[in-house]
Amino acid sequence: MLRVEIAGIKMKNPLMLASGILDLTKESMERFVDAGAVVTKSVGREERKGYKNPVVYEMEYGILNAIGLANPGVEEYVRELEEVGVENVIGSVFGGNAEEFGYVARKISPYVKAIEMNMSCPHAKRVGAEYPEDEIPDAVKEVKKAGKPVFVKIGMENILNRAERAIEGGADAVVAINTVKAMAIDIETGHPILGNRVGGYSGKGIKPIGIRCVYEISSNYEIPVIGVGGITRAEDVIEYMMAGARAVQIGAGVYYRDVSIFSEIAKELEEWLEKHGYTSIKDVIGIAIKK
Ligand SMILES: Cc1cc2nc3c(=O)[nH]c(=O)nc-3n(C[C@H](O)[C@H](O)[C@H](O)COP(=O)(O)O)c2cc1C
Repeated sequence: MLRVEIAGIKMKNPLMLASGILDLTKESMERFVDAGAVVTKSVGREERKGYKNPVVYEMEYGILNAIGLANPGVEEYVRELEEVGVENVIGSVFGGNAEEFGYVARKISPYVKAIEMNMSCPHAKRVGAEYPEDEIPDAVKEVKKAGKPVFVKIGMENILNRAERAIEGGADAVVAINTVKAMAIDIETGHPILGNRVGGYSGKGIKPIGIRCVYEISSNYEIPVIGVGGITRAEDVIEYMMAGARAVQIGAGVYYRDVSIFSEIAKELEEWLEKHGYTSIKDVIGIAIKK
């Protein structure tokens, strides 16, 4: 009932762990056996220390973070990816140009089923959402040479143009959205709260933005879309799929409901589908586009 397929990757359910959430080590990734796929923490060519503390701040309707793409560098990181005991591992990579993207993709490719290009971190400048739009096709073409399906993760800004450039480069799927650029200030001291001052907002508060982005991409292009942003319940997954998503990713939801969110939402989805007379989750994909 919950089985889906994206770019030839078969998943027992449409629920994927989003990049950056408890996915830096093999042990932590293996806690997500109930997910259809696990996306790794984004890795680059060299080690990055990330921003100074605080890097995460929990707010009323979501989580603000500016970790700064901290990672050990791809050569060190792939050691964590040997025989990870989950259904599918998707490798998330970032880079400052096509050559760098290609390098990281080739290193990670033997260990993963697909490669997700992070081109949307809102506080990482050129290795994030400021990656130049006209250079996206070349970067995607370079990553495609690593021989695995390529997903391109884009943010809420300029989403249709960036999706079109990803398609031009030969992307197999588009992932939308990343965190939304945001900040918070301690009004007693007047200081911005995050070490980096500006960060990315995720969790419940961004769901309507994610839904709008998935709907717009799915209405305009044939490419499979993976929806991310603010999912904490089965109803959120249905909403994303009605907007056109073929699968979804969950990040902040893990903070609210722990790792059991995957098995729980899978069960809730089956109950919802049965109650509403569906035999497969695929039947809800794109319903809102046809209305
Ligand atoms: C603490 C934290 C770290 C993240 N790190 C990454 C990352 O390394 N790469 C990436 O593509 N997205 C990263 N994200 C963004 C998530 O993958 C996701 O796109 C975003 O949080 C929206 O989904 P959510 O509301 O379910 O959390 C991170 C999010 C959080 C909260």
